[in-house]
Amino acid sequence: MSHVFLIGFMGAGKSTVGQILAERLGLPFVDLDARITESAGRSVVEIFDVEGEQGFRGRESEGLAALAQAPSSVVACGGGVVLADENRRLLKTMGCVIYLKVSAGEALARIGDTTGRPLLEHGDAGAMAPTLLAAREMLYRMVADVIVDTSGLSAEAVADQVFDALDAARRQNRPS
Ligand code: S3P
Repeated sequence: MSHVFLIGFMGAGKSTVGQILAERLGLPFVDLDARITESAGRSVVEIFDVEGEQGFRGRESEGLAALAQAPSSVVACGGGVVLADENRRLLKTMGCVIYLKVSAGEALARIGDTTGRPLLEHGDAGAMAPTLLAAREMLYRMVADVIVDTSGLSAEAVADQVFDALDAARRQNRPS
């Protein structure tokens, strides 16, 4: 098992890019948030409401750990997956980690309506997003094997860059 993990802030394009990439690589696509909501039988917002953020993070860690037994895939992770030390360790050991970098402003423009994003929907998203991103930026960088700046790029163009980076890494690791 060796997964390709897409990490980054909300609105970075992890799910859209992940689906394009999975198709190009001929691998299954896994959306970690979708796995969590399926197994909980609740939406992300409902999980936050009923179980708190802590409950959601517990489910997120379980979902990530379960991938150790799963066939190789492209995995779109939720924006907060890097918060837990154990998750960062798992990401590093289970495959290649791609950080899709986006500014808070562009992320908010892509997200549009923040309904369904429990960390942004209560209050001033324009003020909260930069603070949240600044607090996580170092964690994304710490765990990333590859960083792709998505500013102004289409999902197809980002997927091209990730594909090329994976190809370059594969060539480098190939015995000569
Ligand atoms: C979160 C991001 C969301 C989701 C949850 C928490 C975060 O996923 O996991 O709302 O902490 O940044 P996306 O990044 O796919 O929106």
